Amino acid sequence: MSIIERVGKKERQYVEEVLSMNFRSSAGYKMTKRLEEAFVEKFDSKYAIAFCNGTATLHVALEAAGVGMGDEVIVPPLTMSSTTFGVLHANATPVFADVDPDTFVISADSIEKCITHRTKAIIVVSLYGLAPDFDRINAIAKKHNLVVIEDDAQCFLGKYKGKTVGTLGDMASFSFQSSKHITSGEGGMLITTNLEYAERIRKYSCLGYAGVSTNKGKISKTDIQEPDYSRHVSLGWNYRMSDVCSAVALGQLEHIEELVEMRIKSAKLFAEAIRNSKILIGQKEPEGYLNSYWAYTAKLVDDSIGWKRFRDKYLELGGDGIYAAWKLTYQEPFFKNMTFLRREELLNKDVNYSDGICPVAEYLQPRLLQFKTNYFDFEIAKRKADVLAETIKYFE
Ligand SMILES: Cc1ncc(COP(=O)(O)O)c(C=O)c1O
Repeated sequence: MSIIERVGKKERQYVEEVLSMNFRSSAGYKMTKRLEEAFVEKFDSKYAIAFCNGTATLHVALEAAGVGMGDEVIVPPLTMSSTTFGVLHANATPVFADVDPDTFVISADSIEKCITHRTKAIIVVSLYGLAPDFDRINAIAKKHNLVVIEDDAQCFLGKYKGKTVGTLGDMASFSFQSSKHITSGEGGMLITTNLEYAERIRKYSCLGYAGVSTNKGKISKTDIQEPDYSRHVSLGWNYRMSDVCSAVALGQLEHIEELVEMRIKSAKLFAEAIRNSKILIGQKEPEGYLNSYWAYTAKLVDDSIGWKRFRDKYLELGGDGIYAAWKLTYQEPFFKNMTFLRREELLNKDVNYSDGICPVAEYLQPRLLQFKTNYFDFEIAKRKADVLAETIKYFE
């Protein structure tokens, strides 16, 4: 397998099936239901509820867990800021736990230090495709009665001690945004084995409709033909995934193994290129973990080189663009200026967001180089890895 198609025949066939239904609303949701069922099977879960994206999933996961104003949710700052947006959307207070210097994912020790009597949940991010230490995190959560929400936007089919990432927390969130292992342009999924959470997730993501439930994402035609039919039993959001997007995601899910394998194989080439390097150290993959490598990420430990100089040399020698890690969430302007659309008034006042609260993440963020792994032609990945080896040689 040296060349694969990112978007295959199945995706096109399923989209055609949806289009051939002419968007009759009585026919809608069929493809989304198929996608949800396929997700349940793939993750050996009980419930899967499709969403319009992997930010809405996080918001609703928290709402389903009963998190709201006055509650604190522990999150890592080194991630795409949606993790924290979810907390603010739920009117709760984010509390930042630091990350591990070698694996770059949220640290169990730091989580423990962040717990107060107001903590209700932890959102753990499987950053770049690598799981955090779930055994320790789940033990902490159990001790303090906290809900664990997995943000697996960047991790499809990663493993933690033999278990598939997505099956370790109380709920797991996935994103199908275009950079992800599987994509439908935009989209998301929440999975859980907990019936109560699943019921609430469905209702809150479907405008609080009375007629929807865990395995039913649409009100029946017959229900709404009564004038006294009461539709809404709670507040909710319209976060549903469209059948067209579901068609693409279903096709993607059917060849997810090859899509993930290609990223892992590309990442291994990059890992090999930096194996003996003194200036670059790759994200550590502890024994018993399988990183599904949404990106291959390394820290530049020689400060005399500089992130931009390294990137420019890599580009000059024929490499692809290297992404920088996102600014830490609490250092983003929306956070610094507390532009939370009046939710800043709801935050617990004694939580500290000043620079210095997560020193490891603050050290890592400006030094991380995220190499893309979404090569669909293995020969190109090999050439890029050779360029990386050459770039390292130039600086060492
Ligand atoms: C870690 C993480 N969480 C959440 C999201 C949000 O997903 P979406 O873009 O589908 O809203 C992303 C990426 O986009 C992400 O990388």
